[in-house]
Parts: sequence; C-alpha cells; structure tokens
Amino acid sequence: MTDLLDPQYAQALDAQDPLAHFRQEFVVDDPALIYLDGNSLGRLPVRTRGILQDYVDQQWGQRLIRGWNEGWLDLTQRIGDKIAPLVGARTGEVVVAESTSTNLFKLAAAALKARPGRRKIVTDDLNFPSDLYILQGIAGLLDAGHHIQIVPSPDGVHGPMDALASAIDADTALVSLSHTVFKSAYTYDMAAITGQAHAAGALALWDLSHSAGAVLVDLHGAGADLAVGCTYKYLNGGPGAPAFLYVRRDLQESLSNPISGWFSQAAPFDFGLEHEPAAGLRRMLTGTPPVLSLAAVEPGIDLLLAAGMERLRAKSVQQGEYLMALVDAVLQPLGFRINSPRNSARRGSHISIGHPEGWRINRALIEQMQVLPDFRAPDNIRLGITPLYTTFDDIRQAVQRLRAVVETRLFEQYPAERPAVT
Ligand SMILES: Cc1ncc(COP(=O)(O)O)c(C=O)c1O
Repeated sequence: MTDLLDPQYAQALDAQDPLAHFRQEFVVDDPALIYLDGNSLGRLPVRTRGILQDYVDQQWGQRLIRGWNEGWLDLTQRIGDKIAPLVGARTGEVVVAESTSTNLFKLAAAALKARPGRRKIVTDDLNFPSDLYILQGIAGLLDAGHHIQIVPSPDGVHGPMDALASAIDADTALVSLSHTVFKSAYTYDMAAITGQAHAAGALALWDLSHSAGAVLVDLHGAGADLAVGCTYKYLNGGPGAPAFLYVRRDLQESLSNPISGWFSQAAPFDFGLEHEPAAGLRRMLTGTPPVLSLAAVEPGIDLLLAAGMERLRAKSVQQGEYLMALVDAVLQPLGFRINSPRNSARRGSHISIGHPEGWRINRALIEQMQVLPDFRAPDNIRLGITPLYTTFDDIRQAVQRLRAVVETRLFEQYPAERPAVT
C-alpha cells in the first residue's frame, strides 16, 4: 500500500507537477512556513512589489494628476476584462471596484428594482453572513415588504438543492447565493439554480469570492445574470483589494445603479447636475477608484491566466484528493472528520476538517508548528489549497504536524476563548 505520508511520495508528485514553477513567482520568505490560507488572503506575487514601486515613484510621484489620462482611468475596466475569462464572462462584462459587499448591494438592489411587485429574496444559510446583512439592509431601506428566505442546508456542508427549488417561486425577485460556500467549500451547480430562477422569472446573483481562480466558472454557459467576487483570495490582489462585479451584457442597460456617482455618469467632466448613466458597465461604478490597490490586483491575475484555469483546477482537485486521503488515513482516527463534499465536482479549493478541539488545535498549529490555516466556528479548520503555490509536500507536512499537535496534546496549552479575528 502507498505510504501517503512518505516524503518521497509527495515530492515525486511535486516533481511531476507542470505548475510547480509558479511558486517562484510569489514571495516565500519563510520556506518552513506552510501557508494554507490563500483562500482568505493570497500570497504576494513578486511582480506586485515592482509594480507598486512604479505606481508610487514614477506614476504618482512624477506624473501626478496626468496619471488619470495615462491609464488610471481605465484600470477598473481593463483589469475587469482580464478577470472575465477566468469566470466565463466576456469583454465589457466585468469591472473592478469597491468591496464585494458594496458590489452585492449595488447588484441586488438593481435586481429588485428590475423585478417590481415581487417580494421574495431566496438565499441559504451557508452564504457568507455579510451577503445576508447586505440583503437585509436593502430590504430595510426599500421598506417595500421584501422578505429574505434563508433556506437551511440539510447538513451544514451541502447546498439545499431541493429546498431551494421549492423556495424559488412566482414571488421571487432574486436568488442570491455563494457559488462556493465559505465554510464547507460546497460548490453549487450554477446552471441548475440559475435555470430555476429564470423559470420563475427571477434573477440570479452569484458571489464568486471562493470560486474565482479556484474552480471552473462559466457565467455565460450557466446563463448567469449577475455576480460579484473578491480579488484578495485566489486572485492574490492583496489585503482589502477592490472586488469585481459582473453584469451580463444584455442586462446592463436595463439595470440602474443605486449608488450612482460621477464615475457612473456618461460625461463626468461636464459636471452636469442630472445623473446620466454611462454606456456599458461603467454605469455600475460610483466614485474615484483606489488606483494603487487596483494596480496591485493585476499581477496575480496575470499569473492565473498564464497557468490556465483548466490546469489549475486539475491540480486543485488532485491536491484535494490527496489531502482527503491523508485525513482519512492519519487524522480520522484522532477524531477529525471531513466537513467538505467528497465529490470534487461539488467542492471548491479548500477542505474543512472538523474536530471538537478545532479551535485550540488551530492555535497550536499557528503558534508552534509553522502551519497557517484558518478557523471557522464551530469546529472547522479550513485548509486552503492554492495550486499556484501550494505543494504536495506542504499538504503532507501539514497533516503530519496536525497529527503531532493532537498526539502530543500540544493544543491543551491554549485557552478555549477566541479573539476578534479568527
Ligand atoms: C464569500 C464572501 N463574500 C463576501 C465577502 C465579503 O467581502 P468584502 O469584505 O470584500 O466585502 C467575503 C469575505 O471574505 C466572502 O468570503
């Protein structure tokens, strides 16, 4: 039988990996650290350092206000057009601006306006809570009787496909879901849900934060209407990097931006007193974009484009299978269980493992074992696989160190209380 924990086994997989060389494109200052949190914050691409230096020293420092006409003004669309092929969208269908939460507000509010008379918003209890808060905020603001149906997952891991199908009805204006959910990494069948929304006359809005750069997303193939997503996870855009939004081309002119500003105005420098929406997706912008943060988003996307989503996905699946086999063989006897779908077609690029002492085990891993995953209540340790830079040997060593923390009861040195950011 193969010894999955044999270093030679993992190292042979790394030697055969056609994407292995992409790791050199990232800053890895501490080779002993096993970073398994690229699903929260991607690593720093080496090129980003030079690009930011150029934006600060040459562009801002020397070109000053002239920079706006020398490329800054188009960044939101130009980088959006680079994200488009990663998610199955077309040129002119993606822009980069604001945060995921703000973009969700814009598109959800626009969708409700486009479906007057309908009062229901359908979502699930696996969705990222910020998305629910945004939907609740919109319902409160509109004060028009909208109610949000939060359909429960049957097991906290898988999406409630059947219950969602029953919930989507003739009163539904909008179906808003995370395509890949943040805790279990369950990935929805986007085409199936979008089809059900359309059959009922509703719009579908997808949060791609845990999907973009992690799974194969085909917005067009699925007939998706609207989507949002962040760039600081698998796209490696940096902490707080601006998010993206997608509106299918044929819908763009029919939706109005609820936070219209001079950047969504057709001719902002005419300074007219009435808002005239710009043509195309520029109408969904609002104010001055964060140029330095936008500039930092591009190198990570270039790396994904160079590697190719098909190859990245194949590696992510292979690494996910390897990790699950290790969990089954080595960690399951120590009280761990897999809280992610077994079926890779329905799973994103992280694996959640649960343990009654998950919180304290996670602390011991970070503080003493040079492994950096993250923790999501009640008991999930999320192990993020980012195939641009995660190695098979990272996975092997992480499992070995997890085993050591439990076998030596190292976690007992840590308190059970959790701080503000986990
Ligand atoms: C699925 C999902 N949606 C939305 C958000 C919130 O994004 P932001 O803080 O950029 O608004 C996150 C943050 O991690 C997320 O994981």
